[in-house]
Amino acid sequence: MAPHSITQEEYLDFRDFLEKACGIVLGDNKQYLVSSRLSRILSEYELDSLGSLITALKHRRSPELRDRIVEAMTTNETSWFRDSHPYQVLRERVLPEMAKRRQSTIRLWSAACSSGQEPYSLAMTAHEYQMANPGALTADVQIVATDISPAMLRAARTGRYDALAMARGLSPERKKRYFQERDGAWEVIPAIRSRVQFRDLNLLQSFALLGRFDVIFCRNVLIYFSSDSKRDIAGRMAKSLNTGGYLFLGGSESVSGFSEAFDMIRHPGGVIYQLKS
Ligand SMILES: C[S@@+](CC[C@H](N)C(=O)[O-])C[C@H]1O[C@@H](n2cnc3c(N)ncnc32)[C@H](O)[C@@H]1O
Repeated sequence: MAPHSITQEEYLDFRDFLEKACGIVLGDNKQYLVSSRLSRILSEYELDSLGSLITALKHRRSPELRDRIVEAMTTNETSWFRDSHPYQVLRERVLPEMAKRRQSTIRLWSAACSSGQEPYSLAMTAHEYQMANPGALTADVQIVATDISPAMLRAARTGRYDALAMARGLSPERKKRYFQERDGAWEVIPAIRSRVQFRDLNLLQSFALLGRFDVIFCRNVLIYFSSDSKRDIAGRMAKSLNTGGYLFLGGSESVSGFSEAFDMIRHPGGVIYQLKS
């Protein structure tokens, strides 16, 4: 389908809407991207231009239309044990530290969980640590996974993955240990699924209701946001961490210049951030 053309005024209006809705900042010349990503929604809603879409958003106040637009504009790219380094640091530094503290509960937050590979990888890492170190980590490991996209959360909750998703980042051992094949797809086993609780959450809004965490994974999402949003989110994440808690960002993301609350810790393979004491 041929993308709809967009006037400069419509584009600026849409950019403003998108940043307010989800934090994503579009560059100056992304008109083609917008029109191609939204053309299906325009046809479905029988709208003839981006201007009519903005008007529909303002007048109909349809949460469903808003969600559809945000979903069309976000990137959901993810994989199992993405970049491997964060999971290695978790296994070799963070979990042993928590095991020593003898906490009764350990809470981890996957703050933009997409289709679930990240939180399930966290659950598998904790499980592997417990199997390799019997009795060391007796804590109840709770993983909260949030995303703005209802469609991603629906997919993540099923814990079902097709062959393409399974081919990205899983070793044959983990595939065998943590999945059951059923009706042409692979399902995460209940022992892992039961550790993850999915909830919808827009990072621009308060996350005080989620409680406090020992570890936050907020990976490959802040890269799309403005400096102001990054500052705001990093500040609120610092307040959501327990003493000594850790923040993991994506490989090309950093809190430098956005928050003074963290110490940067270098590891071979990347950096992580620890809440200053
Ligand atoms: C590229 S994926 C990253 C997934 C995973 N963290 C990883 O690193 O593989 C980005 C995710 O951020 C979500 N997202 C975008 N804006 C958001 C917002 N304002 N609040 C919460 N999630 C958001 C998208 O829906 C998408 O699932």
